[in-house]
Amino acid sequence: MELPPLLRRAVDRALSGTALADLAAAAAELSGRYREERRDGRLHVGSDREALAYLAVRLPATYAAVRASFAAIAQARPDFAPRTALDIGAGPGTAVWAAADCWPDLADALLVEASPVFRACGEKLVAQAPLPHVTWRIADVAVDAIDCAPRDLVTLAYVLNELAPQARQPLLARLWQATADTLVIVEPGTPAGWQRILAARRQLIESGAHVIAPCPHAQACPLLPPDWCHFAQRVARSRVHRQAKGAEVPWEDEKFSYVAVARRPAPVAGARVIAPARKASGRVTLKLCCADGSAGNQLLSRRDGELFKRAWRSDWGSSLLPGLG
Ligand SMILES: C[S@@+](CC[C@H](N)C(=O)[O-])C[C@H]1O[C@@H](n2cnc3c(N)ncnc32)[C@H](O)[C@@H]1O
Repeated sequence: MELPPLLRRAVDRALSGTALADLAAAAAELSGRYREERRDGRLHVGSDREALAYLAVRLPATYAAVRASFAAIAQARPDFAPRTALDIGAGPGTAVWAAADCWPDLADALLVEASPVFRACGEKLVAQAPLPHVTWRIADVAVDAIDCAPRDLVTLAYVLNELAPQARQPLLARLWQATADTLVIVEPGTPAGWQRILAARRQLIESGAHVIAPCPHAQACPLLPPDWCHFAQRVARSRVHRQAKGAEVPWEDEKFSYVAVARRPAPVAGARVIAPARKASGRVTLKLCCADGSAGNQLLSRRDGELFKRAWRSDWGSSLLPGLG
């Protein structure tokens, strides 16, 4: 997945003139903090240098994960056309770009962010595109009230892991109250990220939410550690991205876990492909999470006709309409 051209251009403009060695050093420090999930009382991005490193090496990946999650919601709920959005822990505004790309009717977004540096950086990006009307608010969402009328689309992307564990449940309760229609939570696709998504999923189901994606059911997750539910999105690396990471390969795979819940159920819940499809001539094996709450491998061959064709076209993360699983 590529960044939308206008975002790509705005990011390139923000990064132009930055000394590459400094960007690479800042990117390495930032990646280290994220990998360790360090919570030492300071925001990971508190300086211009860190914000630029984020734009170079993290924004393309978080954008891809958020956009892929939105695509799954749009597939499950083709009639969903949010006009208002609330993004918590907005960073440089990643989710509003992805939402505008997915849902052209989006008209107004409120972005809540703790870091003034990130806000300043995001404001510059947003000013360079005909995005929905955007309002930024500086707040600490662990303690501050979310003071707004419920919004159609509420997002919390790559934020739960930065909050103290005791702050997560109350925040999710406030976010659900602020959700008029759909709430999406995205986390890194690690076992720890999946556990946070599982806890959020349980809490929201208990609050009356309907699961829209990726799970085709609201029963307990059938996966057990060391397995975990996650997906991957291939991300194109720009030249500066490669240089900042000291990487040769022009792409990377961003692993992510997510859950989308809504006030109304999705019309049809299809089985979800939860691992890379294994395809050989005339046969495809899919690991599926199914509407009856089970998960397992399913082998299809040419003899399965239309089902086989659909299975062949699918891959990790796809939803297959009933008939499979
Ligand atoms: C990894 S970034 C994700 C940014 C963006 N959502 C994305 O997907 O690219 C996490 C964001 O959460 C923000 N954040 C962390 N703790 C916060 C808090 N207590 N209140 C508000 N924002 C917070 C950080 O400043 C940062 O912008």
